[in-house]
Amino acid sequence: MNLARKYRPKVLSELIGQPSVTRVLTNSLESDSLHPVYLFVGPPGSGKTTTARLLAAMENCLTSPGVNPCGKCDNCKKIFTGNHTDVSEIDAASGAGSAEEIRKLKKDASFSPIDGCGTKYFILDECHRCSPTASDALLKLLEEPPKRVRFVLCTTDVHKMRPAIQSRSQKHDFGRIYWSQISENLKMVAKSEKVDFEDEAIHLCSKMANGSMRDALQLMERLIGYTGAGKKMTGDLAAEMFKAVPTVLYYDLIDQVLGDGAGKPDASKGFKVINEMLQGGANFESIYQGLANHLRNMLVKMTASKAGDFMSLTEDAARRLNDQCVKCQKGQKLKAIFKSIHALNKAKESTVYNIPAEIALQTWFVESVVFFRE
Ligand SMILES: Nc1ncnc2c1ncn2[C@@H]1O[C@H](COP(=O)(O)OP(=O)(O)O)[C@@H](O)[C@H]1O
Ligand SMILES: [Mg+2]
Ligand SMILES: [Zn+2]
Repeated sequence: MNLARKYRPKVLSELIGQPSVTRVLTNSLESDSLHPVYLFVGPPGSGKTTTARLLAAMENCLTSPGVNPCGKCDNCKKIFTGNHTDVSEIDAASGAGSAEEIRKLKKDASFSPIDGCGTKYFILDECHRCSPTASDALLKLLEEPPKRVRFVLCTTDVHKMRPAIQSRSQKHDFGRIYWSQISENLKMVAKSEKVDFEDEAIHLCSKMANGSMRDALQLMERLIGYTGAGKKMTGDLAAEMFKAVPTVLYYDLIDQVLGDGAGKPDASKGFKVINEMLQGGANFESIYQGLANHLRNMLVKMTASKAGDFMSLTEDAARRLNDQCVKCQKGQKLKAIFKSIHALNKAKESTVYNIPAEIALQTWFVESVVFFRE
C-alpha cells in the first residue's frame, strides 16, 4: 500500500495548505485565462506534482472540465495515474535535463495531442537541474510556446533557475504545510483506512514530517506497519519506532530544572533523565526540538488567555504543564524561560563543533537551573 499515492488530491479543494495557489488557479480556470507556462516552487511533498496533474485533468476532463474534474473519464484516470501520453512528466534530475532531451521535448511539443487531450502538458520536475545548454533550449521553447501546449516547471530551488525562464512563467509558491493541518489529513486517512489511533501518534508523524505531506503519509504508513493489523497506533509505539523521546521525559526534565525552590539543586536527577533520553536512541536534534517545544508551550501558557488553542496536549500533559507554570508564575520566571531557550540554542550550536549531545544537554540543564533560581 502506498498512502501518499492513494490519497493524492483529485480536486483542487482537497489540496491542503496552499490557499493562494488554489485561489489563483481557480480564478484563471473560471475566466479561461490559464498561463502557457507555470512555475511551481516549494519544498518536497508540498503538492507541486499533484497540482500540475490536477491542472491537466481540470483542463482535459471529458465530462466535467473545470475545478472539479470527474476523476473517472479516460483522461482523468490516465492523468491521475501518470499514464497519459499527452501529459508527460519529465524529471530533470535523472538525466532528462540534458540539451538533447530538451530538443526532443521541443519536437514533441510541436505535435498536436494524440490521445484525447485538448491541451498537451509537459511537467518538468526539478527544473533547476537542467544543464546550461538545456536551459538555453528550454528558454527558446518558452519564448514561443506552441499552441495547445502547457508547461509546468517544478523546482525545490528557484534560485538556481535562470531569471529569464522565471520571467516567462507564472510563478506559484508552495509553502511547508503546518503540522496541525498535516495532522487533520492524517486523521482523515487513518479513519478511512480503519486504523485506530491516539492523537499523540498522529502528532508525532506530523511534526517529524517537517512540512511535507508526503513524508507525513509515509511515516504514518511505516507506523501502521509497525503497529500491526487491527491494533491501535499509540503515542508510545510511535515514540519507540521513531526513536523519539517519550513526552513524559520532557516534563520530568523541566520538573528537575524548576526544582522545589528549597535547598541545593540536585543536578544528578536531571542528568539521569538526560541519560534516559539518549539511551532511547534519540539524537540531539530531536531532543532539542522537544525541549524547545516544551519551553515554548510554557511561554504560551503563561502569556496567552486561551493557551489551549495554540497547543495540543493530552489531559495528563496539560495538568503537568499547568503545575509547572503555576510554579513559574509565583516566581515571575518568564525571563528565566527566555534565558533557558537562549541557552538551548547555544547548546545546539555547540554540537556543530562536535561537543557530544550529552555534554551540551547537561550544560543547558545546569544553566537553566541557575536561571530559575536567580
Ligand atoms: N498540499 C497537499 N495537500 C494534500 N496532499 C498533499 C499535498 N502535498 C502533497 N500531498 C501528498 O503528498 C504526495 C506527494 O505530493 P507531490 O505533489 O508529489 O509533492 P511535490 O511534487 O511537491 O514533491 C501526494 O501524493 C499527496 O498524497
Ligand atoms: Mg514532485
Ligand atoms: Zn474526467
